[in-house]
Amino acid sequence: MRVFLETFGCQMNELDSELVRGRLASLGYRFVDDPDAAEIVLFNTCAVRDHAEQKVRSRVGIVGSQKRNGREVILGLLGCMAEREGLEILQKHPQVDLLCGPGELDRLPMLLDNLRRTSAADRSERVALAGNRSRRTATLAAAEDALETLDLSRSFDPEGTRRPWSAYVRITRGCNKFCTYCVVPATRGAEVHRPPDAIVEECRQLVDRGVIEITLLGQTVNHYRYTHGTALTLDGREAPQVGPGLAAFRKAPPAGQRITTFAMLLARIHEEVPGLERLRFVTSYPRDLGEDVFDVLATCPRICRYLHMPVQSGSDRILKAMNRGYTVGEYLETVDRAIERLPDVSIAGDIIVGFPTETDEDFAATERLMRRVPFKNNFIFKYSPRPGTTAFDRLPDDVPDELKRYRNNRLLALQAEISRDVHAKEAGRSLGVLFDRVGSVPIERRAPGPASGGTVELRVAGRSSDSRTPEFQTPVPSDRRRWQALGRTGGDLIVAVDVESPEAAESLLGTVATVHIDSAESLLLHGHLPTPATTPIR
Ligand code: SAH
Ligand code: SF4
Ligand code: F3S
Repeated sequence: MRVFLETFGCQMNELDSELVRGRLASLGYRFVDDPDAAEIVLFNTCAVRDHAEQKVRSRVGIVGSQKRNGREVILGLLGCMAEREGLEILQKHPQVDLLCGPGELDRLPMLLDNLRRTSAADRSERVALAGNRSRRTATLAAAEDALETLDLSRSFDPEGTRRPWSAYVRITRGCNKFCTYCVVPATRGAEVHRPPDAIVEECRQLVDRGVIEITLLGQTVNHYRYTHGTALTLDGREAPQVGPGLAAFRKAPPAGQRITTFAMLLARIHEEVPGLERLRFVTSYPRDLGEDVFDVLATCPRICRYLHMPVQSGSDRILKAMNRGYTVGEYLETVDRAIERLPDVSIAGDIIVGFPTETDEDFAATERLMRRVPFKNNFIFKYSPRPGTTAFDRLPDDVPDELKRYRNNRLLALQAEISRDVHAKEAGRSLGVLFDRVGSVPIERRAPGPASGGTVELRVAGRSSDSRTPEFQTPVPSDRRRWQALGRTGGDLIVAVDVESPEAAESLLGTVATVHIDSAESLLLHGHLPTPATTPIR
């Protein structure tokens, strides 16, 4: 059976898709890049904003009209939108054959198997959603252990990924923060912490298979905390842990109780997986970044000094309405501490504009905050009311869309200025760069116009694992292009280096080299390699 799988949403979803792909491939399913050539079409969906769901609805619409015209295909929705909307989707879009929430992905092979064997599908056997049991602790523990096997049995297949030198490893699932605008606690369920041994082992196995960069994933990744000796699986392994619950955060744990904190986990991976050149983690929750994390970052050279630490708003009143649990002052204090301890730290974030009741003054406060923090970039979103969230139920979506758009554009322009300053500071430095893309720019740049040469053509190495990264085609013939190798610094800044040929660029992919930075734009550094061409550094 040929399967097409497209992924929407965050890195957590990218990892889920990779795990699903590995599991299905091991069962004999074959993956194809063309949705029209597949017998099974799967969308791994996101529900974080309405826009994300619209994209999926339009894809579902296309498959629906093909089915009405006689195409025989199994259409499955996986992920957060399946979980959020639930059975309603099947009524609204009868072309959907299968629903599988992000907490139930281990059951996907069984669901597909059922559908293939029964022509008139039995409704109950094509749906796996956590639904309202997702926060009931007893059943959760059992479900989590089943899900854990999906991460544990990860069949990392370098052929199946675009960047075989880089991988994600989950350390927590779910989220307990309940920011008032956010669907994630409802779609991904309660926060669950994976046992440290399983995480370290997964990192080790990935590195044995050629991975040099690992990004640890969690919605509030630095909230990780595992209390040993409380939960074991039937075969004696430590089990994923629901919680950790307030007790785990008492200053002194009860005598004899061993705890692995986030900082300890980072240090363990750094020490026990020496072949790993880069260790990253996202997303950091500002309130939980303690000195112990900075200590580890300051002393472990292979842990990237990069913090994705979303602030969401620069107004205390709005932060309170969002239930973020910190004030602007506390956020700035964390930023100042980070910069003091790690002078070369790189900070990125997320901001929402147009949250209910946001006034011009609140917005001006966000602009002030942005000018105060050297953000290398910020993802800026227009507030999107999500059914099932507290903000949706209790607060009117009262900022008109036009004003949201205006504020969004102002922040984008402001961020471009800030990014330019942050990037400009790097000129003249030598930075370690992990090369991950081949690109080219036309040699003759014409005046800006519709088909002019500003676009960088990107060729991604290896097979494309999803269709989200388009392969841009410029009309400029290859002998009139300059070839570039592109990569990222430890602080996640993008760097371009001119090379002789596409082959020269390709030979750099998946290696870390020292690059001397010559100049900077707002989102791109330009540099050159000292000769000889590749000097791997730690
Ligand atoms: N766990 C991460 C964020 C996950 S969602 C954290 O707390 O930092 C990614 C981003 O989407 C959020 O940081 C927020 O900026 C944005 N977002 C979430 N819900 C949204 C909504 N309803 N409307 C607009 N943006 C939203
Ligand atoms: Fe959503 Fe807040 Fe949890 Fe992030 S911390 S996933 S924004 S509820
Ligand atoms: Fe989207 Fe779910 Fe991730 S809602 S952002 S795919 S956790």
